[in-house]
Amino acid sequence: MDKIIIEGGGHLKGTVEVSGAKNAALPILAATLLTEEKCVIKNVPMLRDVHTMIKILRSLDVKVQAEQNRVIVEPKKSGQYEASYKFVSTMRASVCLLGPLLAKKKKARVSMPGGCVIGQRPVDLHIKGLKALGASIKIEHGYIAATAKRLVGKNIFLGGAYGSSVLATANVLMAAVLAKGRTLIENAACEPEIVDLADFLVKMGAKIKGQGTPLIDIEGVKRLSGATHSVISDRIEAGTYVLAAAITDGDLLIEKANIEHLSALIDKLEQVGVSVVKKGTGIHVRRKAKILKSVDVTTMPYPGFPTDMQAQMMALASVSDGISVLTEKIFPDRFMHVSELNRMGADIFLEGASAIVKGTRKLSGAPVMASDLRASAALILAGLVAKGKTEISRVYHLDRGYEKIEEKLRNIGAKIKRVKEE
Ligand code: EPZ
Repeated sequence: MDKIIIEGGGHLKGTVEVSGAKNAALPILAATLLTEEKCVIKNVPMLRDVHTMIKILRSLDVKVQAEQNRVIVEPKKSGQYEASYKFVSTMRASVCLLGPLLAKKKKARVSMPGGCVIGQRPVDLHIKGLKALGASIKIEHGYIAATAKRLVGKNIFLGGAYGSSVLATANVLMAAVLAKGRTLIENAACEPEIVDLADFLVKMGAKIKGQGTPLIDIEGVKRLSGATHSVISDRIEAGTYVLAAAITDGDLLIEKANIEHLSALIDKLEQVGVSVVKKGTGIHVRRKAKILKSVDVTTMPYPGFPTDMQAQMMALASVSDGISVLTEKIFPDRFMHVSELNRMGADIFLEGASAIVKGTRKLSGAPVMASDLRASAALILAGLVAKGKTEISRVYHLDRGYEKIEEKLRNIGAKIKRVKEE
């Protein structure tokens, strides 16, 4: 396994380019199963999770060519309809294959994703939505087995205990586009990645309205054709680089970042003393004040503050002045990064679903361990500003969601390298 070594200090300066959005590319690649015609997906980030999705498509007899950041998909007629545990266990997002497999092949068998370090990852909303469209679903031997002679449109309320569900919305959306009649998804996820998926489906011939709002209206069609689509930029990667500039008191231009997707983060950064403004085709980030103020954050479904930015924001709060409270309302256990940040000198304690961060304004480098994708990003941010050397092990977590991260950071002045873990 690799590890990343960072020599802290220094201010990040220059220009960094954001890749395509992992959380849009994954359901869009799954959606190519809805047609037998060729699809060309551009601006796809070459990440571990994307390679896993490509392996699953190939296991379903789909011809997939991936070169640079372009993926050409040519499904062939095939009776394959199972996404096996060996793939799903490494990437729970594979659950979004359920909808397209069911819609196109009338049956699907996808391994239960299992939990992960950010919490147990239920699929009750996925099952509720697909059953509402007429699927019969059994959980057997660790698999979700779904069949449906004919999917029929329905009004479906898809809100759960924690609000909307991104991939449950994706699954129901991808099933409804080939269902008979009209489907209304209420309390749908409004994330930009859902909008991007819907935009791709519309290019394939689907009839969808309301994407990006809590009410998505779908008129089923008989078939979908191939399409070419360029994936939106990754707002979480962009937000991570915004915080990298903020935490190192740098001056960064983040190319291809879509400022409209970062409103909740920018709102909080304005409060702590960081300016983020649109500049050309990107966004420009720099501190307005020498010392950053504390901030209170509660994670919510989009357009609220994203749970995928909570760990990174905690790293920033650790070096700000005063006490910050970060409350996690989406994945209440998503605090694996706290103990590792405290090893670096942060002063954080947990109170239920909230982390109380006493800004210490200085961190010291230490050997730490990555646990989940965004916790790893938080450790990178902390390492950039800590005094001395930080060694982050198990960086395969990072490779799931950040394309060429050490190369991108080195190009803007970070002292960072990747070494093989002996
Ligand atoms: C997506 O996961 C993202 N992954 C996650 O990003 C992100 O953290 C999450 O949305 C929330 O924004 C992808 O898009 C591949 P949810 P998803 O269903 O869809 C509960 C990353 O770092 N829930 O929106 O699996 C669930 O437990 C990853 O890139 C149910 O109760 O998340 C959670 O509390 C991590 N029943 C809440 O809803 C269900 O059937 C939101 O989860 C499904 C979810």
